[in-house]
Amino acid sequence: MHEVAAAPAWVSLAYLVSGVLFILALRGLSSPASSRRGNRYGMAGMLIAVVTTLVTHEVASLPEILIAIAIGGVIGFVTAKKIAMTDMPQLVAAFHSLVGLAAVLVAIAAYLNPEAFHVLDPSGLDILQVSRIEMGLGVAIGAITFSGSVIAFLKLNGNMGGKPIMLPGRHIINLGTLAAIIVLVGVFHLNTPELFVAIVVLSFIIGFLLIIPIGGADMPVVVSMLNSYSGWAAAAMGFTLHNTAMIITGALVGSSGAILSYIMCRAMNRSFISVIAGGFGGDTGGAAGGEAKEQRPWKRGSAEDAAFLMGQAEQVVIVPGYGMAVSQAQHALREMGDLLKAEGVKVKYAIHPVAGRMPGHMNVLLAEANVPYDEVFELEDINSEFSQTDVAFVIGANDVTNPAAKTDKTSPIYGMPILDVANAKTVLFVKRSMGGVGYAGVDNDVFYMDNTMMLLGDAKKMVEEIVKSMAH
Ligand code: TAP
Repeated sequence: MHEVAAAPAWVSLAYLVSGVLFILALRGLSSPASSRRGNRYGMAGMLIAVVTTLVTHEVASLPEILIAIAIGGVIGFVTAKKIAMTDMPQLVAAFHSLVGLAAVLVAIAAYLNPEAFHVLDPSGLDILQVSRIEMGLGVAIGAITFSGSVIAFLKLNGNMGGKPIMLPGRHIINLGTLAAIIVLVGVFHLNTPELFVAIVVLSFIIGFLLIIPIGGADMPVVVSMLNSYSGWAAAAMGFTLHNTAMIITGALVGSSGAILSYIMCRAMNRSFISVIAGGFGGDTGGAAGGEAKEQRPWKRGSAEDAAFLMGQAEQVVIVPGYGMAVSQAQHALREMGDLLKAEGVKVKYAIHPVAGRMPGHMNVLLAEANVPYDEVFELEDINSEFSQTDVAFVIGANDVTNPAAKTDKTSPIYGMPILDVANAKTVLFVKRSMGGVGYAGVDNDVFYMDNTMMLLGDAKKMVEEIVKSMAH
């Protein structure tokens, strides 16, 4: 009865090859230098999986499937081409919502037409017991992923306030709803349409309830968590459809998303459990923030000062952050780096794991500007070098350099590892104004240090002016 038992050996082999290609893709994506290759492996794996599935299944209408693939492909291509890098987190959230919705639709189709999906028991009258559990799980996780991702998209896209929405008694409501879903999946063997509808509706609701209490600051972690959920939904549907490639891919997406969420939580000093439990403990995260209010003396510098100081340096470490992304200063920055290197200055880039607004944000932008990979260092590899660095050039970064993360227990970023720019002989700090604060909304002592010179202005314009001064 099970199609998988009847599948010829070459089909299993093809799915295995696509699984291996997906693993190679993940490996490639772990470093900017190999990410293009990783993407190619992923595309090849998906092509093999889709073609194998198409040629080994009875397809009602191939032209319709091909038209759907073409329409979806064009929409994806155009969207990916047009999207600004800073809007990438919401695009990813939107894509996850589609994966969740697809899992729900497949489960509905399999429930309504079990014969077509080969999930009938040997009597040919009822859906297989085990398929019902997989279906119930798939539809529940898919629906949670869908509604959760829609809320994440609306929050990240600014259609909904980023502030956490805390319902009274939300933990009890959430736990109650989750328990109800688990019970319903457990008794789904009774196989009534009402049960199926109840699982879908409650899962949509819990997805919504879990994400609304999460503040904007934690949203990228949530997006990565939803990525993981979408993988588990796909894996569950893979079991229903007896499709090995879907099970492997779903499990890979599920586990890699969970690992990434864990890494991000650690880098932002957030509790993993509190994020997946939906704002557990009422942590409002940073973004709510206050303003920089203190009137303390600080030094202002010009582009010429910066050009002079860096030209004299032996080593300059550039620390990019969200502001570099906003002003798209990466190309000008690379030009500045080239000029410094031509003068014999050693140039390095220091990347904090949560600089910007999504994992790898800075790496992608620097790669786009053709900054050599061997000049780009992760926090743990470069942090000890600031004390032997003449100039730390902080451009549009703020929270990731803030010593309050080490010293002020009341700070929203307390416990987050930071780049120790303050240890450099001179810190050049590029931002637009003294009033503007970083994501966490807190003041930064580095602005007021004796060895800091503030370069106020748009990051791209400032670097272009520095480049002009250097060229003279
Ligand atoms: P932020 O702390 O957000 O600081 C950005 C800085 O850029 C501010 O000082 C801002 O000051 C400046 N800026 C903005 N636009 C600018 C422009 N056009 N030209 C020049 N400067 C500009 O950035 P960060 O240091 O990269 O830290 C990232 C923060 O985001 C952390 O708190 C992190 O936890 C959080 N976060 C990160 C992620 C991931 S995964 N990366 C996810 C969620 C949250 P002005 O306004 O004065 O210009």
